[in-house]
Amino acid sequence: MGLVPVIVINDAEDAIPLGKALAEGGLPGAEVTFRTAAAAQAIRAISEKFPAVLVGAGTVLTAQQAKEAISAGAQFVVAPGFNIRVVDFCLEQQIPVFPGVCTPTEIEAALDKALSVLKFFPAEAIGGVSYLKAISAPYSTVRFIPTGGVNAENLRQYLSLSAVLACGGSWMVSSQLIAARQFDEITRRVSEAVNLVKQVREGLK
Ligand code: 3PG
Repeated sequence: MGLVPVIVINDAEDAIPLGKALAEGGLPGAEVTFRTAAAAQAIRAISEKFPAVLVGAGTVLTAQQAKEAISAGAQFVVAPGFNIRVVDFCLEQQIPVFPGVCTPTEIEAALDKALSVLKFFPAEAIGGVSYLKAISAPYSTVRFIPTGGVNAENLRQYLSLSAVLACGGSWMVSSQLIAARQFDEITRRVSEAVNLVKQVREGLK
């Protein structure tokens, strides 16, 4: 899909209209972060109502949270950092896991676990596209998901790097939009990002 919408949901009631807004925008995927108590319930609601939407859990900081997320239906797990207990638990459960990295040491810890897709976090704050270009050069087998400060303005630059598999971010699905129930605006932003991914990929062919 090229995009990972990072979702902070306070009220699980919003999960269904949100799943609908994402699907209507052409993006059947979501990362629901474990930053709120509603996360597991929201994951369960979206995965039950929209089986075609690939739902995962984000901000997973402990193996216990990974367990809860997977029981709720999460099909993948994202973490801000490289936590070996989270990674090992997901590997045991055979659930794709994308830990966050931003140094060569962390990338190599992930390589030791045979992981080849990693979240690059916090993308903009740590140095953005030029930092990612430099850090990815020695690791030709790794693809990255830059997240943190990615938005409609810099998305194209990240997606143009061959080391980038997808970009993550909250700009399409901000918690303010969810709280204000502006699902039409979410669909509009999602569809704008989906079109940009298509354009960049056509251009790279
Ligand atoms: C994350 O949880 O991965 C990031 O905090 C998302 O960052 P953003 O809000 O800058 O997109």
